[in-house]
Amino acid sequence: MSQKIAVVTGSHKGLGLEIARQLAAQPGFVVIVTARKIESAELAKQTLTEEQLTVDAQQLDVTHADSVSQFTQWLEQNYGRVDVLVNNAGINPYYSAEESSILTAQPAVLLDTINTNAAGMLRITQALIPLMQRHGYGRIVNVSTEMAALELMGQDQYPIAPSYRASKVVMNALAVMMARELAGSNILFNSYSPGWMKTDMGGADAPFTVEEGAQTAVHLATLDEDAPTGKFFAEMRKFGGPISLPW
Ligand SMILES: NC(=O)c1ccc[n+]([C@@H]2O[C@H](COP(=O)([O-])OP(=O)(O)OC[C@H]3O[C@@H](n4cnc5c(N)ncnc54)[C@H](OP(=O)(O)O)[C@@H]3O)[C@@H](O)[C@H]2O)c1
Repeated sequence: MSQKIAVVTGSHKGLGLEIARQLAAQPGFVVIVTARKIESAELAKQTLTEEQLTVDAQQLDVTHADSVSQFTQWLEQNYGRVDVLVNNAGINPYYSAEESSILTAQPAVLLDTINTNAAGMLRITQALIPLMQRHGYGRIVNVSTEMAALELMGQDQYPIAPSYRASKVVMNALAVMMARELAGSNILFNSYSPGWMKTDMGGADAPFTVEEGAQTAVHLATLDEDAPTGKFFAEMRKFGGPISLPW
């Protein structure tokens, strides 16, 4: 059984921590838990190590090019490869009153949100793809949201959250273009919506748990070579298997 190295962004809490936990439970997996504060990453590492899982911890802020570059160098020096990247790090400024309407949404907030959710994803993904290309294997999973599906945007029941939705639309578009350029390289790049979950972002009223939300990430992170790429999936538990969402 060959060892697989997986990186999960924003994985000291919430959905990211649970994705790290479920991936580390896969045979042969070593998961690198990352957080903006190294102390948070170390705490998560301690928790998962106590559960007999094989994990390491590093600082990573996807909005800082220096942090991305230092992380990539550390990964190369310590592991020499990466097999799986889950782009989970995200922000949602829904708590600001202006975000309750597109008529009051602030351009500066929109740009900040895109910087984390879309450009942040692009920064770390561009940095790690060469490591995947070196050994001809990669599984990249974007944690998106059905709130970004343009077909549903005018008619769903979710909050308006214009900056969040638009940032995830950009994230989805980048993923499609990446998947297209990577076609035929055995690096598969898919996006999914985990559903509304109980986390700091989702709040206590959310109907689903992070345990449920993480399952589809693990499925997409462990796809066989002939599996789809460049697709957008709904959470599996809702349908008993992965089904495509409209973009
Ligand atoms: N909860 C839901 O209902 C729901 C639904 C659909 C999609 N999602 C998506 O699921 C993902 C995880 O969300 P969550 O619910 O688990 O929220 P959360 O508990 O707020 O976790 C967000 C994570 O992202 C990290 N993060 C934020 N900015 C970062 C940056 N610049 N660099 C690195 N990490 C950063 C946070 O770290 P800090 O603690 O340092 O801020 C935290 O670890 C997000 O992409 C979100 O959009 C969530």
